[in-house]
Amino acid sequence: MNSNAAAPAVTGPDRPAPLHVAIIMDGNGRWAAARGLPRTEGHRRGVDALRRVVRAAHELGVLYLTIFSFSSENWSRPASEIGDLFGLLRRFIHNDLAILHRDGVRVRVIGEREGLEPDICALLNEAEELTRSNAKLNLVVAFNYGSRQEIAGAAQRLAREVAEGKRDPASIDADTLGQYLDAPDIPDPDLIIRTSGEQRLSNFLMWQAAYSELVFVPIHWPDFDKAALESAIAEYARRERRFGGLAAKTGS
Ligand code: IPE
Ligand code: IPE
Ligand code: MG
Repeated sequence: MNSNAAAPAVTGPDRPAPLHVAIIMDGNGRWAAARGLPRTEGHRRGVDALRRVVRAAHELGVLYLTIFSFSSENWSRPASEIGDLFGLLRRFIHNDLAILHRDGVRVRVIGEREGLEPDICALLNEAEELTRSNAKLNLVVAFNYGSRQEIAGAAQRLAREVAEGKRDPASIDADTLGQYLDAPDIPDPDLIIRTSGEQRLSNFLMWQAAYSELVFVPIHWPDFDKAALESAIAEYARRERRFGGLAAKTGS
């Protein structure tokens, strides 16, 4: 993603909707536990929340919605839970891809494909291929994604070009590295939301989050809805983004 954080520094209700919202969809397990249900039921209800939020994001004027759906570190969970999560992804693509396509959503996938089962890779490719020309909303699915791994991959590709004599190391700056990340054409997230009350990034978009506004909401992901998204966007609108400069009021 692009590391140039040049966004309008307007605050208040006049600020346009965030162009790019990224969400760490957390709390499925705790949502289920609080109801005496198995964790898998929380994940299933989390998919319902995702459907609602994709629709709401478009209605609220968001152009890019990135969702953290499986982290590189989630492999440390029990195999049965990993199986449930992958099963849900399969079903989501089977059931919802045609609808997303009809609604003009372009699906992009970031994260490591190597090591994923071939049928999952095929589904991810199919989703990207089918929706390639859509432009109403970009749904960026971070699957088997870890920010450190993404940055290490970018460094590795650059190092290879240097070793092959195709690149002068002195030419590598932050913008260059940004161009070697998984989706360099996608602007950095303006707003990152994490549900469930946890206040950390958990290896999500660490490079791209340099100047993102972070909003932590106490509700668990299966309960997240349009009103919750609207309220996170309203909180974003109240923030003053300075990008290292001076406050708009004092800056002239
Ligand atoms: C988010 O919910 C879904 C994934 C990480 C895949 P969790 O499964 O992390 O739910 P909690 O945090 O245990 O409640
Ligand atoms: C982050 O949530 C990953 C996803 C939402 C996919 P986790 O539940 O895995 O994060 P930690 O372990 O609480 O930091
Ligand atoms: Mg969690």
